[in-house]
Amino acid sequence: MKVAAIAGSIRENSYNTLLLETIKERFSEKFDLDIIKIDKLPLFNQAEELDPPEVVKSFKNQIADYDAVLISTPEYNWSVPGVLKNSLDWLSRGERPMIGKPVMVVGASISLMGTLRAQMDLRRILSAPGISANVLEPAQNEVLITQAHEKFDKNGKLTDEATLKVVDRAVNSFYEMVNG
Ligand SMILES: Cc1cc2nc3c(=O)[nH]c(=O)nc-3n(C[C@H](O)[C@H](O)[C@H](O)COP(=O)(O)O)c2cc1C
Repeated sequence: MKVAAIAGSIRENSYNTLLLETIKERFSEKFDLDIIKIDKLPLFNQAEELDPPEVVKSFKNQIADYDAVLISTPEYNWSVPGVLKNSLDWLSRGERPMIGKPVMVVGASISLMGTLRAQMDLRRILSAPGISANVLEPAQNEVLITQAHEKFDKNGKLTDEATLKVVDRAVNSFYEMVNG
């Protein structure tokens, strides 16, 4: 199984990118995970949706090649960051590689709500007609990392045991969903 991982934050040492790296390391025997960057994608322009710039074409082809997609989102102003929404808008028009794609949503924030609002919005976006992803059900599978600054150590490792248990259980559910 090959998983494309997208972080909704493009900053260096983003907790959400670190979370993806944690999952990559912990599940390296079960699946390959590649972090696909979205920071070079131009702003979505509907006039270009059928013949997008090369960087967008290559992003869409990359996503199409993977068995599943894992999205780790921060929360910006109670919703998903614009940079993540922008990437999903490109994926939703012209060639639409997300349709039916197994997707898992996770997220980390420094607040006590742990991206709850952002994840709810993201799930709604992922069910829009142009995306129509096959999203892992949240029941028992939510990964809402609160107070991220206390859960990752100085080297960027997710060290909080209780959080790691939640991550492992949810990612295992995703693995089972994708592999029947
Ligand atoms: C523009 C902006 C808006 C934010 N809004 C929220 C918010 O609504 N809820 C929240 O929990 N954290 C919010 N935060 C704090 C983020 O949780 C924090 O910056 C987090 O580290 C971002 O994820 P990252 O580490 O992956 O970049 C906001 C941060 C920024 C820069």
